[in-house]
Parts: sequence; C-alpha cells; structure tokens
Amino acid sequence: MDNQLIRYIIQPGGSLNGNIRVPGDKSISHRSIMLGSIAEGITNVSGFLQGEDALATLQAFRDMGVSIEGPKDGQLTIHGVGLHGLQAPSKPLDVGNAGTAMRLLAGLMAGQNFSTTITGDRSLSKRPMNRVANPLRDMGIRVDTEEQGRPPITIHGGKPKAIQYKMPMASAQVKSCVLLAGLYADGETSVEEPAPTRDHTERMLRGFGYPTITDGNRISVQGGGSLVGMSIDVPADISSAAFYMVGASIAEGSDITLEHVGINPTRDGILEILRLMGANIVLLNQREVGGEPVADIRIQSSPLKGIQIPEHLVPLAIDEFPVLFIAAACAEGITTLTGAEELRVKESDRIQVMADGLQALGINARPTTDGMVIEGGTLNGGKVETHDDHRIAMAFTMAALRASSPIIVNNCGHVATSFPGFVKLALDVGISIEQEIA
Ligand code: S3P
Repeated sequence: MDNQLIRYIIQPGGSLNGNIRVPGDKSISHRSIMLGSIAEGITNVSGFLQGEDALATLQAFRDMGVSIEGPKDGQLTIHGVGLHGLQAPSKPLDVGNAGTAMRLLAGLMAGQNFSTTITGDRSLSKRPMNRVANPLRDMGIRVDTEEQGRPPITIHGGKPKAIQYKMPMASAQVKSCVLLAGLYADGETSVEEPAPTRDHTERMLRGFGYPTITDGNRISVQGGGSLVGMSIDVPADISSAAFYMVGASIAEGSDITLEHVGINPTRDGILEILRLMGANIVLLNQREVGGEPVADIRIQSSPLKGIQIPEHLVPLAIDEFPVLFIAAACAEGITTLTGAEELRVKESDRIQVMADGLQALGINARPTTDGMVIEGGTLNGGKVETHDDHRIAMAFTMAALRASSPIIVNNCGHVATSFPGFVKLALDVGISIEQEIA
C-alpha cells in the first residue's frame, strides 16, 4: 500500500486507560540484527520490533548471506557469520526510511572486502550522509554519495585505519558508525562526543563479549576482536511509549501503565522534561534486562506548565520533541526549546513541520533556527501534514485528546516504520481514531 494514502481521523476528547506494552525498541532492534550477524554462533532475540525500519535491516543482512529465522511474535534466531563472513549483496541494500540502518551499515560496510550501495525512500534520500562519509574517509575508505552528501551512499570496503574522531554533532548514529568501522581497524578507534548520546551500541558490543571503553565523553574500541552470539531481550521503545505518556498527561481522567519500557539514562530525557512540566509519572518494578534498564511506567493526567527545556536534555529526548511540542501546546504558559537544530534533519524538518501543524490547529508556535517557542492554548481541530514522518503522525494523534473538533492527519503510512499496531493500541486505550485510505 502506498504510504501516502493512509489518513487518520481522530475525534476530539477522551482519556487513556489500561496497561499496554508498546513495540520493541527500534535502536536496539537494528543493532541486534547487525551485531548478531557479525557474531560467531547463534543469537536469539525476543521483543524484536517488527516494524518496517528494523525489517529493512533484517533484509539487508539476509541479502548479505546471513541466515535469520523469524521474526515470529518478536522472536528471531540469527546464525552469525563472524566479522568477516558477510557476502557481497547482489543489488543495492534498500533500507527504506531507516536512517539508523543506513548510517550504522555504512560503518560496518567499511570493513568488508566488497563495495556496497545503500539506498532509501523519499524521506531518507533527503537526509545528510556526509556526517558518516567524512569520518569513514578519514579512516581511508572511499565513500561516494549524491550531491551534498545525500543518499544513495556507496562504501568501497577495505581496511579502515583507526582514528580518534571528535564528533561535531551529538549523534549516536555517527558514533556507532565509526565504532563499527573501528572493529575492522588495527589499533584503537575512539569517538569523542560533544554531549552524551544513546549508548546501545557500546552496551550491546559488551554483551557480545567485545570490550568497549567509555572514559568521560570518549568511547573507544580495539580492532580485531570477535563477538560471541548471545540472547537479547528487546525492551519496549521509550520513544513509542512517549506518545502515550504525553497523551495520558494531557487527557483529563487518564491513568495508563506502559509495561517493560527501556529507561536507559541516555534515552530518558522525556521523563525529566515531562516531570519538569508537572507530569505525574511513576516508575514501577525497575529492573535490568540484558544490560538495559527497564521499568513499567504509570502516568496519570495532571496540569502541565510551560518550561525552558534544559539543553543538556535535548540529545536524551531527541526523538520525543514532536510529541513534547503537543505537551507544550496543552501546557499553561510558554515552552522554549533551544539547542535542537538536529531536529531539522530527522525524518522531516521536525521544527518546521510541527510549527506548521500547531499553527494550523490555532496554537501560537514560533519556529527558530534551533528550536521553537510555543504558547500553550486551545487546540482547534483541523488538518495537518506529516511530510512522511511517523512521529509527526503519532504526535498529532495525541493532540486530538485536547482538541475542540476532529483532527485529520494526512500521510500516516510511515507509522509502520516504528510502531506497527499503533491504531489498534490507540483504540484499545481510549482514542477515537479511524484510518482511511485517502
Ligand atoms: C538513533 C539515533 C538518533 C535518533 C534515531 C535513532 C540510533 O539519531 O534520532 O531515531 O538508533 O542510533 P542521531 O544519531 O542522528 O541523533
């Protein structure tokens, strides 16, 4: 089905109630396939995200000769081929909408004895790849891109040279790309990050028995080791849970518990930002699952207030801003975000697209180069555009909980990239949503 043809129509009002488990973490799912494939022996994965992005990564590794059973009910068995066992794919690897797949794969492909071209969909084809091409070039690898560093990207694999990379932006994808290339280098490759970013690659490498060292803001690996297959239990994705956290906070009478959610400290900025805004969030049953902290998260509705979002929380909540802007629109007073220019190069320009949508719904939202100023107010109904961005679609779905008339969200097919079953789950907890083929 063409992605553009799905439209959501959400009736105003309602409250969110129940206990739900949102799908598996997208970042961890991608990495489970990649590292499981280059490990020695078998890796079993449960809780895998059967969304289009992670499935694209799975297909890419099948295209490189890796035998993977499943996924069935989130379970996978990967027959790892070792660091040097991947085979040249017979055609370009198409990773669809998945920026994580393209950028992390670029790093892995740098160490292969073949060349690989990686392509993507319309949204991904607009996104910057020089941020990974440049450090790989510093490692002595030839990398071709289209104009201005856009995809497709071709990596002429070889023997990467170890580098000490000072990363210009806070990006877990770039960090991971360089570290994965570093597995194939002689000596130590390190990445210095300007602010902490999600550390799933480092954690998972350690889980596979491959040492990584984190020393302050510097993460390093020694090339030439090996990974040993393991079991991975993928927690529910905090970035998917975020929609329901905001929905329950803004919809009066809500009381919802989100089960088995990953609360890795490099991903939990949403909890702190919502708490600063006055949200009522309780973490229950905190535990550790396969090296990642997990909790059940209970949220009850409460009045929110506008805040100045602390800049150090931006990378820790980088995917949650579309829905945080909805929280800001429902809060009393003004919310200001700065230091978030990275939002302009996500699946869409999330600053512009969210400002346009909020304005269409009657909210005073002023985009700035690196953030937004939002005055809390009354949300009208109306029509908004997603610009091929899954998180924009789900954010505006939550806005309807506080709108005065229905909200129509055009072009919602991309929700399947990260959140298969979103509409059904939304219906189950109390959102009046219909999807229509436009
Ligand atoms: C991701 C890192 C983040 C995030 C993306 C997933 C990852 O991107 O926005 O959704 O899995 O490493 P950047 O590294 O570009 O910030």
